[in-house]
Amino acid sequence: MTEIKIQSTGDTFTCDEDDTILRAALRSGHGMSYSCNVGSCGNCKFELVEGSVTHAREDAPAWSERDLKRNKWLGCQARPNGPCTIKFRDLPAYVSRDLPQRRAAKLLSVSAITHDISEFSFEIEGEDGFRPGQYALITVAGVEGARAYSMCNLPGEKVWNFQIKRVPGGAATEKLFGMQPGTELSIDGPYSTAYLREDVARDIVLMAGGSGLSPMVSIARGAFSAGMLADRKLHFYYGCRGEADLIDPAILGPELAQKVTFTSALSDASADGASHRTGFLHDVVAADFGEDLKNHEIYFAGPAVMSAAIQKMAYESGVPQDQLHFDEFF
Ligand SMILES: Cc1cc2nc3c(=O)[nH]c(=O)nc-3n(C[C@H](O)[C@H](O)[C@H](O)COP(=O)(O)OP(=O)(O)OC[C@H]3O[C@@H](n4cnc5c(N)ncnc54)[C@H](O)[C@@H]3O)c2cc1C
Ligand code: FES
Repeated sequence: MTEIKIQSTGDTFTCDEDDTILRAALRSGHGMSYSCNVGSCGNCKFELVEGSVTHAREDAPAWSERDLKRNKWLGCQARPNGPCTIKFRDLPAYVSRDLPQRRAAKLLSVSAITHDISEFSFEIEGEDGFRPGQYALITVAGVEGARAYSMCNLPGEKVWNFQIKRVPGGAATEKLFGMQPGTELSIDGPYSTAYLREDVARDIVLMAGGSGLSPMVSIARGAFSAGMLADRKLHFYYGCRGEADLIDPAILGPELAQKVTFTSALSDASADGASHRTGFLHDVVAADFGEDLKNHEIYFAGPAVMSAAIQKMAYESGVPQDQLHFDEFF
């Protein structure tokens, strides 16, 4: 255990040898900004004032020589080599209601949703609280670094379910898709500020692209279970390449599937436009809502290219930034 001091306030928190400064700060209730947790977005950069740290991931894409010269480090990758003093803005918006914990988990089952997306169900030890839309870090034996996966179910059952897309040649997904029920591993969470806002009265638009399905399913389930759909509409858009990638809205559950307006958008130019909407997800949503999009609460998840296109479309439609909720998926 090492002590980390926040320069601006003089507050301290402890960090385990094998933990990172970001996760230790969040576990102790401090609000360090972040998004991806895997070294790719750069949102967690802090200044090292005293002491020394080592990055868990030496090739972290969001870290450069310039950062090293300015003594800036990534909170999600930095491990302290001894007591440190650091500089960052402690922001309450980044404090998770359910403080993240590392917990033991056991794989219960795997069920296919499409040819390359399956739902993995893990029994977890300890507190199971999280907010719909949040994610956890799964450590897979033999894979360097944990991977982020979003829960698709609701808390309260000591089970966390994840809808995971297989990435051909992917270090973690190739192992996960070969995993047998009963396998034990470690799950660390919950993380993310892109969770369902239950107190907002606006209608909801959800946009999921491929691997972004899981958090949007959880948000839809959370909105339904909190009674939000009694007086709000929920529009669920799912973007994928071709017909083989389509999902059945019934995976939401029979009652919820009735309450949701579900639209699939196929980006493959040769897809059958008579049976499905075709085009990129952001274009389909822009065509359906136009300027009225700014009257909705918007959540989205998926590949980085899709995320950038949705952010641009939302900006051009006049959607205020605080009505957009997403994590960078890398
Ligand atoms: C916030 C968030 C939520 C996500 N939720 C989902 C989800 O619900 N479902 C889903 O299918 N996918 C999700 N992803 C994507 C997922 O985390 C993986 O990127 C994806 O499964 C590919 O992993 P892989 O190991 O199979 O592929 P690889 O190509 O082997 O690995 C790519 C990923 O691993 C990261 N990485 C590589 N080396 C390291 C290292 N040493 N330490 C840490 N990270 C490393 C890369 O940045 C990249 O994200 C999410 C990603 C993020 C950031
Ligand atoms: S780089 Fe650390 S949270 Fe994204």
